[in-house]
Amino acid sequence: MDEQRRNHYLKMMGLTVWQRRGQLLPAENGISVEGVAESPASVIQGVADQPLSADKDSFSTEDLAIPRYDWQSLKQQVRQCQACTLRAGCTQTVFGVGNPQADLLVIGEAPGADEDKQGEPFVGRAGQLLNAMLLAMGFKREAVFIANIVKCRPPNNRDPKPEEASCCEPYLLQQVEFIQPKLILAVGRIAAQNLLKSDIAVGKLRGRIHPFGAQKIPLVVTYHPAYLLRSPEQKRKAWQDLQLALSVLGNPS
Ligand code: URA
Repeated sequence: MDEQRRNHYLKMMGLTVWQRRGQLLPAENGISVEGVAESPASVIQGVADQPLSADKDSFSTEDLAIPRYDWQSLKQQVRQCQACTLRAGCTQTVFGVGNPQADLLVIGEAPGADEDKQGEPFVGRAGQLLNAMLLAMGFKREAVFIANIVKCRPPNNRDPKPEEASCCEPYLLQQVEFIQPKLILAVGRIAAQNLLKSDIAVGKLRGRIHPFGAQKIPLVVTYHPAYLLRSPEQKRKAWQDLQLALSVLGNPS
């Protein structure tokens, strides 16, 4: 992507780009940030101890211990799911949206009111910011796949309970296996902690590449767009996370 276009998308994300000493430096809310932008490499505080392989043949359904459905029947399974009590309180299940062959899989928390109504993840204000974040990376929304930890809206937008996330996990794992993404971007605490089976804060999980699952799919954690709307000063760190993700994915053409 050319520099001008990226700067345009960074502005849509709410970041102003300052040119300093020949390098691009995103600053939050037009406030200049001292120093030079960190390169993606310097943001990596640690990497997976195993080689990060995107080898599509090394991930087996047996690792998931769940039956193999094709994509359409997986959708159907999700639609008919009554495994937890969330389904009774929501309008419809939200399977996920986008390209089932995407290199990038974005995983959020749970559908909210807008998503519950429309049956699609990230369609509200947070979704608009997510779209801008993706564009700044060089991805149109439809080029990636977007899913959530749970497929049904929790009442009053509360966090999904661990048992609800567990009920939904086989569906998400099956989606990961179908998509075979080169990278998973976990947005927000609920996504990061559930995927990584961790109770560490997002601020500590971000900034490095985690191996996900038996195939050790590279996983990058960043802040949830809804949090970024409330705390725009964190957008610069989020952009660093997205650059880290790009260092694995390569720049989309
Ligand atoms: N927040 C999420 O985590 N997921 C959505 O689909 C919408 C908002």
